Amino acid sequence: MKKNKGKRTLLQSVREYKTASILTPILMVGEAAMEIIIPFFTQYLIKEIEHVGTDTAVNVNRIILFSCLLVGAAMFALICGVLGARTATKASAGYAHNLREDMYNNLQTFSFANIDNYSTSSLITRITTDVTNVQNAYQMSIRMLVRAPVLFVSAIIMTILIEPSMALIFIGAAVILGVIVAICMFKVIPYFRTMFKKYDKLNAVVQEDLTAIRVVKSYVREEHELEKMRDATQDVYHYSVKAEGILNFLMPSVQFVMYATMIILLLVGSDMAIKGWGGVDFSNLQALITYAMQILMGVMMVAMCLNFISMSKGSADRIREVLNEHTTLPKPAEPLYEVADGSVDFDDVDFFYSQKADVAVLKDITVHINSGETVGVIGATGSGKTSLVSLIPRLYDCAQGTVKVGGVDVRNYNLDALRNSVAMVLQKNVLFSGTIAENLRWGDENATDEDLRLAARQACAEEFIERLPGKYDYDLGQGGVNVSGGQKQRLCIARAMLKKPKIIIFDDSTSAVDTKTDAQIRAALRQHAPETTKIIIAQRIASVEDADKIIVLDDGRINGIGTHKELMATNEIYREVYESQIKGSDDADCKELKGGEVDG
Ligand SMILES: Nc1ncnc2c1ncn2[C@@H]1O[C@H](COP(=O)(O)OP(=O)(O)OP(=O)(O)O)[C@@H](O)[C@H]1O
Ligand SMILES: [Mg+2]
Repeated sequence: MKKNKGKRTLLQSVREYKTASILTPILMVGEAAMEIIIPFFTQYLIKEIEHVGTDTAVNVNRIILFSCLLVGAAMFALICGVLGARTATKASAGYAHNLREDMYNNLQTFSFANIDNYSTSSLITRITTDVTNVQNAYQMSIRMLVRAPVLFVSAIIMTILIEPSMALIFIGAAVILGVIVAICMFKVIPYFRTMFKKYDKLNAVVQEDLTAIRVVKSYVREEHELEKMRDATQDVYHYSVKAEGILNFLMPSVQFVMYATMIILLLVGSDMAIKGWGGVDFSNLQALITYAMQILMGVMMVAMCLNFISMSKGSADRIREVLNEHTTLPKPAEPLYEVADGSVDFDDVDFFYSQKADVAVLKDITVHINSGETVGVIGATGSGKTSLVSLIPRLYDCAQGTVKVGGVDVRNYNLDALRNSVAMVLQKNVLFSGTIAENLRWGDENATDEDLRLAARQACAEEFIERLPGKYDYDLGQGGVNVSGGQKQRLCIARAMLKKPKIIIFDDSTSAVDTKTDAQIRAALRQHAPETTKIIIAQRIASVEDADKIIVLDDGRINGIGTHKELMATNEIYREVYESQIKGSDDADCKELKGGEVDG
């Protein structure tokens, strides 16, 4: 499913934040340069001040000059620091914004087959936590990865200029510190990696639990769900404690090395100053201490930076996966934008959900549907009804054979043009938060109030909408929770009708409405959309009885095609279903119950 073509990198999302990203290290180097210069001026200032109270003449002008230079350098460092922090924030936050937008844009191009590859919770973690990890690593990198080495090398050079033997002490300390940090990182990173995976699981539990909260409550599974949640949080707790435990050891070790270096420096340095060995005197001892700190801090910063980058590598890989997922529905070279009519042809079609699957979901399907016909589809659950109709608006591509709409292979159409001509009321349909009118206008954003009313009437939804407070302005709540299952189905039908499609597909779309309303909707369809091809998947024979033809599916194959009369005479499966439905209310109730559960 994943192809190598056009592999894109994460850094391509920096775009308009490139200037801020380049400016940050420059400003950081400016700040670092001042941090090097300040001790340098300080030692001269101390030298001059040391003359106070001695016989040597005090050069007040030099004291003023060095003081001014010191203040100037400090101010410059402050400005560079503040501006650098601002550009770093802007660059990293902007980069994260672009990454999220790019991921989201690519997600919109995903086919149903692409979507099947990812769980919702994993996509949410990728867009939120993973991007935040990469953002932090990016900010750290642009701030530190240039600044720290510059500081390190300059401080070493300055130390060598004062007294080369001191540089050896610093390098020795830096090596020890580097080893300590490396060991800690080596141990801590696997814990962090696992912890992020556990976050994924935690998100999955929370998301599943919240979306299915009604089912959880109706099956009294709260305790079970709570247990799952406890396990997931316990895992996150366990790994974060382990990781933090190692990091807690790191800081005191670093401080130990720093203070030890300082003590050695003071001991050796003051001894050298007293004995007059080398270039060390009391005026530059202060500078040496500062350089020692800068060298060690440089090592620390680089290590921390590498740590962040390494920690975010897993996140970066997961983001890259989403960005590089190409739609499984290739675009035609010269797409057609006009769908001639509502005819549908399946020619010898085989279909698999996954390339790896060896059993076909649909096999040897050949059906011809004329424009304007009403076609029923009947079959047991899992027989492939939804799969069959999914091929018409090209939600999936077939593996063998061709599916034609308006006499043209669906793969030759512009996808939007095709889907605008084929309205599908999905089996698991959803409404969105917002008013009824807003939801209906998904079908046609320019629909007038009158159009909305007409569509609602055709879907037998008008009567209940009129009774709602606010009518078409009634708020549906998230996912359309504020209406009943049957009302929701009728709104979905009205929404599809507003598209004025050439083909309309109802996938078990009236399972939650009563038989009478079901018949009324079909009558309205016949009257108002005579030229639209109507494909109706139903559990109830009554829903398809009057269709021009009925397709009987059995285990992914066509078992029979014909009118109700023909099938009653020739098709055993059809006859059995029919008889079971009219035989007694018990069986019929059972069939209806199944439909009721779909949306409930
Ligand atoms: N997204 C999917 N990925 C993999 N397999 C799937 C997917 N959707 C359905 N299937 C499988 O394909 C087969 C046909 O499913 P389909 O949804 O077409 O059945 P159906 O006739 O619509 O059933 P129902 O009456 O329950 O809606 C089933 O065996 C099902 O498990
Ligand atoms: Mg189905």
